[in-house]
Amino acid sequence: MRALLLLPLLLATPSLAAAPDGASIYKRCSACHLPTGAGVPGAYPMLGANFKSLAASPAGRSYLILVIAKGLAGPITVEGKPFRGVMPAQTLDDAAIAATLNHVGVNVAMAGKGFRPFSAAEVAAARASGAALNAAAVGKLRAQALGR
Ligand code: HEC
Repeated sequence: MRALLLLPLLLATPSLAAAPDGASIYKRCSACHLPTGAGVPGAYPMLGANFKSLAASPAGRSYLILVIAKGLAGPITVEGKPFRGVMPAQTLDDAAIAATLNHVGVNVAMAGKGFRPFSAAEVAAARASGAALNAAAVGKLRAQALGR
């Protein structure tokens, strides 16, 4: 009898939301950056060595989060090559941005053992600190983050 009374309670308990899958979200990025992250010269930058360095510093991590949340309008120089494009802001929630950046770090940029995973809380904090920025202002953060 007691078990029967508990049943409606159990059914009403919301199930934990499934964690977003960075690999499937990355499919929308790979339309421009390519599945390997190799990019397209002059159009879409590669997600490789520069991503790895950016992910290693607090300012760089905040920049990477804002590129996705706010978009990016350069000019930027990636691995010595100039890009003067515009990346549209991606409509993704905090957990989805974290999952996507983690997929890029581990499987695309191959950032290796030193890579520290992004959390939804870190994304939320960066999003709040960059709330007033537009895509061009995000571009300016890049030089500061890389110290040049
Ligand atoms: C419509 C094409 C397009 C899509 C889709 C796109 N990007 Fe971009 N992305 C760009 C362009 C263009 C730039 C460079 C902008 C510039 O030249 O200033 C860029 C820049 C970046 C950078 C900055 C690289 C650096 O070294 O500073 C990162 C990181 C990035 N994109 C990640 C992503 C991720 C992750 C996704 C998917 C959630 C994504 N992009 C989706 C076009 C795109």
